[in-house]
Amino acid sequence: MAHNSTLGELLRSQGVSRRAFLKFCTTTASVMALPATLVPVMADALEQVRRPSVIWLSFQECTGCTEALTRSHAPTLENLIFNFISLDYHHALQAASGRAAEAAREEAMRENAGKYLLLVDGSIPTVKAYSTIAGISNLDMLMDSAPNAAAIIAVGTCAAYGGLPMAAPNPTSAVSVSDLIKDKPIINIPGCPPIPLAMTGVLAHYLTLGTLPALDALGRPLAFYGDTIHDRCYRRPFYDRGLFAKTFDDEGARKGWCLYKLGCKGPVAYNACANVKWNQGVSFPIQSGHGCIGCCEPGFWDNGGIYESIARGQFGTGPQMGVAGMVGAGVGAGAALLARSKKERAAAAHRAAE
Ligand code: SF4
Ligand code: F3S
Repeated sequence: MAHNSTLGELLRSQGVSRRAFLKFCTTTASVMALPATLVPVMADALEQVRRPSVIWLSFQECTGCTEALTRSHAPTLENLIFNFISLDYHHALQAASGRAAEAAREEAMRENAGKYLLLVDGSIPTVKAYSTIAGISNLDMLMDSAPNAAAIIAVGTCAAYGGLPMAAPNPTSAVSVSDLIKDKPIINIPGCPPIPLAMTGVLAHYLTLGTLPALDALGRPLAFYGDTIHDRCYRRPFYDRGLFAKTFDDEGARKGWCLYKLGCKGPVAYNACANVKWNQGVSFPIQSGHGCIGCCEPGFWDNGGIYESIARGQFGTGPQMGVAGMVGAGVGAGAALLARSKKERAAAAHRAAE
């Protein structure tokens, strides 16, 4: 499709019904906490969209973020989102390689200067030799691609916070996108991998309203990262009653009791897994019988063992630090304290936006 065609023209040419498209807009508006009255506005706006150029850079990562996006809610969401954008450069998905791929990136940057979205997954090794693409270090490629981007979306915990490559002893001296870029709007969509709807929702919001969604103090869209897993967890009634599984095969585990004492980090992990879930809403880690490992939080690899209960001071880099201490302070007081934390987070987000 030509860059100057509208999304509406493309959808019609592909036989996508207006009803299916409205369903997508309704889902997106709902999860982005936008009012229902905005659904027709979103539909009309998206239909008029002339697809913006997107350049997707993959650095020190496992390709899980791309895997998650391409396996998102089938069949409409990911198809539609790829129709919304002109994905001009993506290592894993493009056919071209080597110099031809780099020429495509440079052409897209030249033709869309100041307008393209830059998506990054993976951390950036500051020791340049550790990761190169077509002979260009990750660091140089990011610094070359960022200046003319309209905004940057850091996809996944590695791009947002350094992730696994930055775990101690951090052999490549890896850093996050926001450690390097200070003069551009950056949206962090952490998770290992992130929820696909968080990626598509942010893109749809940007394309519809021309603005970035409200972010928390860690640069995450509040619509998806405003609550902890614990806030929405279906095992929460067991937590509140002090009923915990002590091993993975005891009576408590069989009865679906809370996994807090098996290391669940849900009380300090801000993400939408418990309500949006994965694989078209089928399940999420806790529903599968394993505690949340806090994959959406900064430094989650270095914050104690996966099967150790949350200790005071864990996840101490963000506003959630207080929550860890609160949870350590005792079961039962959790609900009121978490509510206070949410209020504090809203205030922090407000301060960050000012
Ligand atoms: Fe759910 Fe984990 Fe909270 Fe227990 S500690 S209620 S399993 S999020
Ligand atoms: Fe990650 Fe916890 Fe969700 S481990 S996928 S944030 S339930």
